[in-house]
Amino acid sequence: MGSFILAIDQGTTSSRAIVFDADMTVMAVGQQEFPQIYPASGWVEHDPEAIWHSVVATVKTALKKAKLKAADIAAIGITNQRETVVVWDRETGEPIHNAIVWQDRRTAQMCQKLAKAGHEPAFAKKTGLLLDPYFSGTKLAWLLDTVKGARKRAEKGELLAGTIDSFLIWRLTAGASHVTDATNASRTLVYNIAKNRWDAELLDILDIPAAMLPQVKDCADDFGATDPALFGAAIPILGVAGDQQAATIGQACFEPGMIKSTYGTGCFAVLNTGEELVRSKNRLLSTIAYRLDGKTTYALEGSIFVAGAAVQWLRDGIKVIGKAEHSGELAAQADDGQEVYLVPAFVGLGAPHWDPDARGAMFGLTRNTGPAEFARAALESVAFQTRDLLDAMDKDAKGVAASTVLRVDGGMVASDWAMQRLADIIDAPVDRPKILETTALGAAWLAGSKAGVWPDATEFSRKWALDRRFEPVMEVVERKRKVKGWKDAVRRTLSSR
Ligand code: G3P
Repeated sequence: MGSFILAIDQGTTSSRAIVFDADMTVMAVGQQEFPQIYPASGWVEHDPEAIWHSVVATVKTALKKAKLKAADIAAIGITNQRETVVVWDRETGEPIHNAIVWQDRRTAQMCQKLAKAGHEPAFAKKTGLLLDPYFSGTKLAWLLDTVKGARKRAEKGELLAGTIDSFLIWRLTAGASHVTDATNASRTLVYNIAKNRWDAELLDILDIPAAMLPQVKDCADDFGATDPALFGAAIPILGVAGDQQAATIGQACFEPGMIKSTYGTGCFAVLNTGEELVRSKNRLLSTIAYRLDGKTTYALEGSIFVAGAAVQWLRDGIKVIGKAEHSGELAAQADDGQEVYLVPAFVGLGAPHWDPDARGAMFGLTRNTGPAEFARAALESVAFQTRDLLDAMDKDAKGVAASTVLRVDGGMVASDWAMQRLADIIDAPVDRPKILETTALGAAWLAGSKAGVWPDATEFSRKWALDRRFEPVMEVVERKRKVKGWKDAVRRTLSSR
């Protein structure tokens, strides 16, 4: 058996495969984007075949770049965009419809109906989630309602359902394993996170046949082995976690009170709450951080749908900046006398507002407002939203969040200006690690530690290395004024629902 680890990171806009050596150093990366499909306003789909082909291609690229064969890989760890759901035929492996992506809002009305019928407390109590179209359950119900004959076929056991990890594993193992891990299951709206099992009552409410759901495993577990026909040898799949949970592991947030925040398309802040399932009173999600050796560690999560996507909008939508990397430099040139706020509710607002009908807005524009003020408003909106999440966490977890630093990762954290402003707005230190591939690293650690070629959690935590700490330096009065301006902007943006 080899000593290298391969991480597959199947994200919202691209698939990546990363080879790590036995010292946990990145050796090679394969990356491929795939098309986003927008069939109607607020709808987002992916072609599961495009995802599958991109994964196979990137694994081959990464192996080739690293000059390795499949037999050199000790294990594969998979991490993935969460909540996105696929239904496929057990016999042929063909999906019955495109995957419905986490960002998709098509089940907003279904969620409202369920809430009106008084079901929200049951969903919240058992799953730690809320009735929002973000999660897989109502998307799966929509597929069963919409694709002709689907529910009947699912009842007969002819159709299988799963999040992206589950679909990939099924394909990678040539149909031998229909499995998922506890973190991905915890995002489906039908998994009881306290009892660690699919919940019959919730499945009944959504009319989802239990027969179509995967078996739920620990994050470091035996998920099967790849079909030798794919890469030349069978590689065991020993680690699986949803991408935000994998980043929590990659950031070595193993102790209660530790928080990481990942800035990609959206922003997802995860606070480790240990063995305690903390119930949020501030509309955060309670979720599974990881399950190892049958022991569940819980987390509170704040999910923001638009972070880096706000910068992309400046670049591709209204074209006021050339390159996303320049947004920090541009923001630094903004006029201090102008108070411009962007509330990037492009697909509604996530935590703590959960308003699928809100839409984006800008406030405070003057005749002098230009690209620099837009860039600052976009980067500051990410900082303000993070602050809202941390405030909510602080209230829910009784002071634990306030006493800790924030570990950050994701594309946006390369900007020193954005990270300094984040520290200033949240009024807490922000730690940027040396290794920014935290999501892949987390998945690789699950597989590598299970395979016995990587260290345990304690040693892994010791190896976590800081690139730079950003300390808050903003004057209290200025912070207060800005935060007040932001809250006012959000209040004016929320829908009247
Ligand atoms: O919950 C959605 C999240 O898992 C998506 O993450 O990195 O693919 O945008 P990402």
